[in-house]
Amino acid sequence: MSVLFSDRLFLTGFMGAGKSTVGQQLAERLGCHFVDLDKLIEERAGKTISEIFANDGESHFRQLETETLFSLPVDRPGVYSTGGGVVTSSQNREFMQAAGRIVYLRAEWKTLQKRLSGSTDRPLASPDKDWSSIRDLLESRIANYEAADVIVDTDGKSVDWIVSYILETLNR
Ligand code: S3P
Repeated sequence: MSVLFSDRLFLTGFMGAGKSTVGQQLAERLGCHFVDLDKLIEERAGKTISEIFANDGESHFRQLETETLFSLPVDRPGVYSTGGGVVTSSQNREFMQAAGRIVYLRAEWKTLQKRLSGSTDRPLASPDKDWSSIRDLLESRIANYEAADVIVDTDGKSVDWIVSYILETLNR
């Protein structure tokens, strides 16, 4: 575990991929700190993500997302779960590549669709959106997700299994 312990791990993946849950357990297993980027954005803005999208628009959210990503304490080991759209910005991708390693939690569309059903706190996957537009969003991001250092296929896997797989793969 010594190699990993000096690492910064950025968890990426589409909405509903399980980044926060996996990130928390991964950090626990590594004994390092964990930051959920979306939660930090909300804390700093004093508003929920949905409120930021509704009041200030998506481009303002993206600005806050980049500012918050760049402010992470990457001079020490840590696990960071990111929002599903973080990979859409080349400067975000370059920052994560330079600061640590990127782990993509991949899931099949059917799995994501099930997890996103009834979700009300994700403006880009809210109940008024049709599934085809959400799927198009996923498709448009796949190449950027797959440019990760580690890709984990999470369908049907427990959080424990996913965490162990990430640790084993990074230590190889
Ligand atoms: C977004 C994903 C969300 C959140 C925001 C935008 C996206 O995070 O950052 O609603 O563009 O995919 P989760 O992936 O944690 O749901």
